[in-house]
Amino acid sequence: MSTHASSARVVRVDATDPDPRVIAEAGLLLLGGRLVAFPTETVYGLGAVATDDAAVATLFGAKGRPADNPLIVHGASLEMLLPLVAVLPPLARSLAERFWPGPLTLVVEAAPGVSPVVTAGLSTVALRVPDHPVARALLQAVGTGVAAPSANASGRPSPTTAAHVAADLGDAVALILDGGPCRVGVESTVVDARGDRPIVLREGDVARADLDAVDVVGDLAASPGTRHRHYAPSCRVVVAPPGRAGDTAADLARDARVGLVATTSAPEGVVEVGRFIDGAGLAAGLYAWLRAAEDVDVDVVVVEAVSTHGVGAAVMDRLHRAATATTRAQNEGPR
Ligand code: TXA
Ligand code: MG
Repeated sequence: MSTHASSARVVRVDATDPDPRVIAEAGLLLLGGRLVAFPTETVYGLGAVATDDAAVATLFGAKGRPADNPLIVHGASLEMLLPLVAVLPPLARSLAERFWPGPLTLVVEAAPGVSPVVTAGLSTVALRVPDHPVARALLQAVGTGVAAPSANASGRPSPTTAAHVAADLGDAVALILDGGPCRVGVESTVVDARGDRPIVLREGDVARADLDAVDVVGDLAASPGTRHRHYAPSCRVVVAPPGRAGDTAADLARDARVGLVATTSAPEGVVEVGRFIDGAGLAAGLYAWLRAAEDVDVDVVVVEAVSTHGVGAAVMDRLHRAATATTRAQNEGPR
């Protein structure tokens, strides 16, 4: 894992009313081929101009991201993204009108000119108009699509603060715009919008129920990101049923150093890592708390499950992936 001391320039911006001079400078850096990290409503993104192959290649290198995992292109509006689309399917248009700006990514057939570096050679491209004043101002200033994966080192939890970005990417980034913590805390819902009904490729803040999505059983081959190894913290992650997290943690604490992320306070002998009140609260805090659990050096972190209502589905998806990845990593021995 690449957590090194950072020398990135971090500039604080007002999350609701960013200083236009700072935005203009960030825009010029992007247009000059540099990487700029910026807040969105979901997580921080690491941006490069989508038509600049050299910059996008630098971006893959900075994250240590496998070249076969395509990027989402961000725009300030649907109009700005239309040049990337071969033909806009009616479903994509209606979803964009309904949910943009917002935490929904639409996968559509790409126009011939879209770089294969961005799409990882697929015929499709993923598009999103984020709902964050800083992201929107920056995208407006750039005036063309910006490819932006989550601004973490590949294999780390997505960053929800500027400090997370700096810890993971350091001097690979020309500038980090610090707009404070992200509101949602988990990545956008990704849907294939080419057919008659949306197919969910990744759960997010826009819930399945609000999308009238097709249920896909089994193979999610269309979603390259799901093939890759998922974040495995250095400690084991145990998911406890609602209301049982404190007791589970206390049991485990008899022969391990245990941390707790739950709706209740930590029992004696257990380190309190995070407290939340509902699924949205766990979504907002989860990635920061997983990083914090590593920092306080617990053997196990127990996280209380939430209902899969709304953003809860996305949180439980990420949590189960982290839990499975740590179990698998431990079975495979040190890495
Ligand atoms: O909330 C978000 O989506 C954040 C913020 C920064 O916008 N971005 C983000 O990007 O999470 P990233 O690169 O970490 O995840 C993008 C996901 C991956 O799972 C990738 O495989 C999928 O989108 N994706 C990108 N292009 C695709 C395509 N053409 N077809 C299917 N999946 C695609
Ligand atoms: Mg990511």
